Amino acid sequence: MDTKSHWNSTYNKNEIEKLGWYESYSESSLQLIKKCSIDKNASILNVGVGASTLVDELIDLGYKNIIANDISSFAIDKLKNRLGSNSNMVEWIVDDLTNSKILAHIEQVDLWIDRAVLHFFNDEREIGTYFDLLKSLVKTKGFVIIAEFNLEGATKCSGLPVFRYDEKMLDKKLGSGFELIEKFDYTYIMPSGDSREYIYTLFKRNF
Ligand SMILES: C[S@@+](CC[C@H](N)C(=O)[O-])C[C@H]1O[C@@H](n2cnc3c(N)ncnc32)[C@H](O)[C@@H]1O
Repeated sequence: MDTKSHWNSTYNKNEIEKLGWYESYSESSLQLIKKCSIDKNASILNVGVGASTLVDELIDLGYKNIIANDISSFAIDKLKNRLGSNSNMVEWIVDDLTNSKILAHIEQVDLWIDRAVLHFFNDEREIGTYFDLLKSLVKTKGFVIIAEFNLEGATKCSGLPVFRYDEKMLDKKLGSGFELIEKFDYTYIMPSGDSREYIYTLFKRNF
């Protein structure tokens, strides 16, 4: 099954609240977003958004320029349904981060947020394409939040193999223009009660 079909089927078959990455409140991401002190008009791109509650929370906090991307139109439709009329406040982009047709052409953003997407990219081409896209889309003085399984983390998620990270690996991939501002490990408890070890990182782009 290709990537798009895998994720469409995952969101089609399962209730959002039972997914192994569901959070009823995106506490760790919001903690890092607060640290950025960005304007409410700042552009925020949430890549691989899934049906994350982060979008609801950003709208509630008054952010006005939210862009939500996913490879799965099923995920985005579920999120749109939950948001109801608030879904009009978001720009929606169904696109593959490793073979972008649309994202590659949008304006640069103030903040890039990825929770649990990058770790699904296992080969050098996919990882390289992801970071090339990120670097082309994040403004100078912009921010990057990346939260993935850490080196103690599980080796699979959603039945797929994952590539795990620490902050040094992310720093190296981002390169010299980016400065690590904050990082912490976080144990996420899945709806099943199992735990998953994440690393949360915040970088600032200096040049
Ligand atoms: C584990 S889920 C995390 C969802 C969301 N970020 C969250 O924290 O709830 C991974 C998400 O990445 C999306 N995804 C996987 N590969 C992708 C790709 N190549 N381009 C864009 N999105 C992708 C999936 O559809 C899925 O919604």
